[in-house]
Amino acid sequence: MLNSEVMELTVPAGGASLVSRKMNVMGITTKFNLILIGVLGLGFAVFSAMTHRALYDNAYREVVAQAGLMMDSSMALRSYTEREIRPLLKPQLTVAFPPQIVPAYAATQSFMQLRKNNPEYSYKEASTNPTNPRDRALDWEADIIRMFRNKPDLEEFSGMRDTPGGQALYLARPIRVTDEGCLACHGLPSAAPATMIERYGNDNGFGWEMGKVVGAQIVSVPADVPIAKAQSISQLLMVMLAAICGVIILLANVLLRVFVTRPIQRMSQTANEVSQGNMEVPEFETNGKDELSVLAKSFNRMRRSLDKAMAMLDSERS
Ligand code: HEC
Repeated sequence: MLNSEVMELTVPAGGASLVSRKMNVMGITTKFNLILIGVLGLGFAVFSAMTHRALYDNAYREVVAQAGLMMDSSMALRSYTEREIRPLLKPQLTVAFPPQIVPAYAATQSFMQLRKNNPEYSYKEASTNPTNPRDRALDWEADIIRMFRNKPDLEEFSGMRDTPGGQALYLARPIRVTDEGCLACHGLPSAAPATMIERYGNDNGFGWEMGKVVGAQIVSVPADVPIAKAQSISQLLMVMLAAICGVIILLANVLLRVFVTRPIQRMSQTANEVSQGNMEVPEFETNGKDELSVLAKSFNRMRRSLDKAMAMLDSERS
């Protein structure tokens, strides 16, 4: 019984077992790296998708807020015109129609001043049947007006558009006829001030009805800069995260090598030597308390037992 065990142990290990030992050690590092890269890669993908989304949403909200502010300032100008300018100019209506009396005109004109320094911003009171032809809705604006007509509950709508100057965000609100007073000028041409007909003719901007959506206020603001900013922050975060992942992988590999693969390699080398009958190889030095140190101690003990067994066997033989 003892003989056969010793026989097996003393059979010199061939080259094949050496190769397989090396391959196994390679295997641990490769497997570990594959799992680590897989986990970090997944985390990286989820994190990058989430931050990209959050940064983009944030940029979008910022631009919408800016557009909302411009819309509100136009609304303020409209109501100022209605409350303070209209009463002053009303007597003029019989002489010559003053367009300054019209809130839509006041808002559009004041925005044109703003556009002189900020050409990428725009404001329009678009209508499919406008009094002033410059307010005629373009195709995409007409689509928005149609949408407001089909969805009476929709009070605001925003979206992105490609323009020659880059990406722009538009914010739109419906214009409804909610006041009978509007129909004095937008109902039947016969009811409109004669001076207004003189100026604008009687073909356009009439036939509007109470409660109907007749147009939309549409503010356009440039979105290229905030979106590019969000993109560059997102890219910077990705680069930093990739660098952190790289450092983690490097550090994990160094630690794996120092604490696991190198001690195992040394141990298996010794085991290999011993299995080939070389009893001169030194014992492992084990100071640590981790699992591998315990294994090394056990191995050292086992080797000593083996030494004794071999010595006994030798003395029995001689
Ligand atoms: C005193 C006549 C008058 C009254 C009252 C009036 N409007 Fe107008 N409205 C005009 C004129 C004139 C224009 C064209 C101004 C211009 O040259 O840009 C206009 C333009 C508009 C426009 C821009 C599209 C277009 O037709 O060119 C809208 C929208 C509009 N009015 C809505 C209203 C609403 C809503 C009311 C009621 C709250 C109203 N208007 C009351 C005369 C009037």
